[in-house]
Amino acid sequence: SNAILIGAPVDSGQRYAGCMMGPAAYRVAGIAAALRDLGHGVEDWGDVALPELAEVACANPSVHHLAETLGWTEVLCDRVDDALSAGALPVVMGGDHSLALGSVAGAAAYAQRSGRPLFLLWLDAHSDFHTPVTTTSGNLHGTPVAYIAGREGFDAFPPFPAPIPPERICLYGIRSVDPAEHAALLLHDIAINDMRVIDERGIVAPLREFLQRVAAAGGMLHVSLDVDFLDPSIAPAVGTTVPGGTTFREAHLVMELLHESGLVTSLDLVELNPFLDERGRTARLMVDLVASLMGRKVFDRPTRA
Ligand code: ARG
Ligand code: MN
Ligand code: MN
Ligand code: MN
Repeated sequence: SNAILIGAPVDSGQRYAGCMMGPAAYRVAGIAAALRDLGHGVEDWGDVALPELAEVACANPSVHHLAETLGWTEVLCDRVDDALSAGALPVVMGGDHSLALGSVAGAAAYAQRSGRPLFLLWLDAHSDFHTPVTTTSGNLHGTPVAYIAGREGFDAFPPFPAPIPPERICLYGIRSVDPAEHAALLLHDIAINDMRVIDERGIVAPLREFLQRVAAAGGMLHVSLDVDFLDPSIAPAVGTTVPGGTTFREAHLVMELLHESGLVTSLDLVELNPFLDERGRTARLMVDLVASLMGRKVFDRPTRA
């Protein structure tokens, strides 16, 4: 299959500078070569640029960089839709997680035209279920899941094309949820595989269950991988570290299961801040995880039934 790399130097969704260097770090860490070595065709579409920004106001004074975030949303929605329409798997190299406001909108627009249901796997320490109304940090990287699920409060944004029903969303690796997000999540039927669930059931079973539902529905699957899904001890290059994240082995196993499922149709790599990295180790780990997701194996055995 073919992958299209889309650089998204987005840093307007949070307050640390540095995420804009993410796409460059993935290229330096050899993401294109890693995928080519697995036999995939790879095209790099370069970095997206901001369109001209509109003036926008927001009732919540803590919200910052709304106009930039709207600009990225618009351009990334278009680019991901284009890549899917070209029959490829878009790999969006971020950039902070606010880029998913656009990338998942693009996947949803494409899915709607193709008449297939879109599912979302959110690999993250955070639930990112705020709206521009409920966020107290004002960091819009904490809002994409709410936008995608069709919550109210996104008046400044284009209406989300075909909001994803809660039962098609799976949050995985969660260990930081703000009170307002918690209250809203209780009202939605979203699968919340927090670390409590994963510690008890293991990293495999809840994911298999979700993937079986995607397969049974003939769905498309967008995977959004936040660096802070990983434990800070193996992935320090992120502004929002939370202890107790997935281990190296768990993370690779997740990627291997995703590969075996054959279901992934689009992918975000988000929140990498190369300025906080140690000799490129987080960027290289993320590239290795993408390679696992795209078919790299320790030992190639016939896939089990
Ligand atoms: N819930 C917190 C907030 O709204 C943290 C969000 C972190 N999100 C992320 N994509 N890293 O600020
Ligand atoms: Mn286009
Ligand atoms: Mn996130
Ligand atoms: Mn996060």
